[in-house]
Amino acid sequence: MLMQENILVIGANGQIGTELVNHLRSVYGSDNVVACDIRRPDYDTKNAGPFEFVNVLEKENLRQIYQKYKPKQVYLLAAILSATGEQNPKLAWDLNMNGLLNVLDFCLEFGTRKIYWPSSIAVFGPNSPKQQTPQFCTMDPNTVYGISKLAGERWCEYYFHKYGLDIRSIRYPGLISWKAAPGGGTTDYAIHIFHDALKKGKYQSFLSGDTELPMMYMDDAIRGTIELMEAPAENLTIRSSYNFAGMSFTPEVLAAEIRKHIPEFEISYGENDPRQAIASSWPKSIDDSQAQKDWNWKTGFDLSRMTADMLLNLKR
Ligand code: SER
Repeated sequence: MLMQENILVIGANGQIGTELVNHLRSVYGSDNVVACDIRRPDYDTKNAGPFEFVNVLEKENLRQIYQKYKPKQVYLLAAILSATGEQNPKLAWDLNMNGLLNVLDFCLEFGTRKIYWPSSIAVFGPNSPKQQTPQFCTMDPNTVYGISKLAGERWCEYYFHKYGLDIRSIRYPGLISWKAAPGGGTTDYAIHIFHDALKKGKYQSFLSGDTELPMMYMDDAIRGTIELMEAPAENLTIRSSYNFAGMSFTPEVLAAEIRKHIPEFEISYGENDPRQAIASSWPKSIDDSQAQKDWNWKTGFDLSRMTADMLLNLKR
């Protein structure tokens, strides 16, 4: 076990943070991974380790945490996602943007060695190529979440070139997981559908049946994140954020896969949901060849393995 790494995970209670904290604690030891959030976590007590209240918009609060831990690594996961962001665009911009800048500045001041910050497929927009969307192309996001992630990517690259800060980032697709609830995104249907399939045998999707989106199972997302963080710095050619792909499917295709386990499962489709326009502006599939080349990324879970694993774990 590596000692004294002092890692902060900010936004530790969210969908990604919940799993990432446990994973990092198993690698670095519980005491070295400080879970930070604006809410107290309800972890399994056996997995517990240090917790701090942190609001990335309160600089004094943030400074105290940096002073106390002098973190060597920081994971900044606190964000407002695509669907929730549209309900309060200024708050989403403030948290996603000023939260990032505050954290980057303290990382510089306190000598943090490595930083992780997630971006998203939301950085793409209606004029980006839809199929196998490349790393570099037209990017015209039209959600405040996407705008803040694209601007954040530019800041990450800027801090890397200007100040030498070792920031690493991935453009996550929709993340599917069973341990913690999703946080107000457009891709959340792909989680709700499993809960409803098991509880009610039916689900009403807020996206149309033919809306294809890039998705990934959380196990792959966590593994990829750690692999990127462990990759030698000199191998990394992208300092904005890496395209990252798992699988792509539509609600119709996912429902058919669930029916292989629950034959009576029924899906219906709602109308006029504002999340449809967001989903329609995003890629259908992602070209992640740069991640494959630079840090040897390989997807583990496909649709059938992910579906089987979700149903198995949610049933327990
Ligand atoms: N899952 C996210 C969302 O839907 C995309 O990054 O907002």
